[in-house]
Amino acid sequence: MAYLVSDNKKITTKRIREMKHTGEKIAVLTSYDYTIASLVEQGGIDMIHVGDSASNVMQGNATTVPITLDDMIVYGRTVARACKRAITCIDMPFGTYQGDPYKAQENAVRLIQSTGIDSVKCEGGSEIREALELIIRAGIPVCGHLGLTPQSIYQFGTYALRAQEEAEAQKLIDDARMLEEIGCYALVLEKIPAELAKRVTESVGIPTIGIGAGVGCDGQVLVIQDMLGMNMGFKPKFLRHYNNLGEQIIDSVNHYVEDVKKGLFPNDAESY
Ligand code: KIV
Repeated sequence: MAYLVSDNKKITTKRIREMKHTGEKIAVLTSYDYTIASLVEQGGIDMIHVGDSASNVMQGNATTVPITLDDMIVYGRTVARACKRAITCIDMPFGTYQGDPYKAQENAVRLIQSTGIDSVKCEGGSEIREALELIIRAGIPVCGHLGLTPQSIYQFGTYALRAQEEAEAQKLIDDARMLEEIGCYALVLEKIPAELAKRVTESVGIPTIGIGAGVGCDGQVLVIQDMLGMNMGFKPKFLRHYNNLGEQIIDSVNHYVEDVKKGLFPNDAESY
């Protein structure tokens, strides 16, 4: 049974915050181009995130570290053009907000101004507080991101589950409260124990969006290529495949190649 969208009104940060209080779960997917973002919108999504996971799934890099602000601007612009109803969010890439907070503000302004995306997401807690405060002060809505923060992969050394020890779990809760206090409108929780994600969700007034963080979050996010089964070798425990597009694309291409080789395409009806 298909999910029916209740209205076509543009989703705002205010509505996203209200959804936590009304108990309506928030459905989020990534997109990096106009065509996919248009289809994702038509599927009734609440939020589209232009993730720096574009570094992996669009550019073929092993991590999110190499993607640049200029790259993100290209992806963001195409997604913004497609989104009429869904609220949009874009990752500030590695190196654009971890240093000088004023430079971070300038980068966030450039990202929003040149893409038309509604909000930015930054990874980290107390270490980047000043940068986040300045971005919010510029009038840009910010979504936080705690737990597994892939831009710090070289510091972590692994993509394993985070915050299993009480000290790291407590810092995560403190950071989540801080993000709410400075005015973030939402918070992504990545790859942490479900019990901790539930604790964080109950400790803050802003919505939590989980990925590998259990059902206790206020919303869920997945990378579109992963959930459609296009990234066939990637099967972490938290991922559910809603399709097998990878296999379907390969089969379709193979069928096309066969038709071309045999002179079966185009036929008379497909010719002028
Ligand atoms: O880059 C990304 O796709 C993300 C989501 C998983 C939240 O940050």
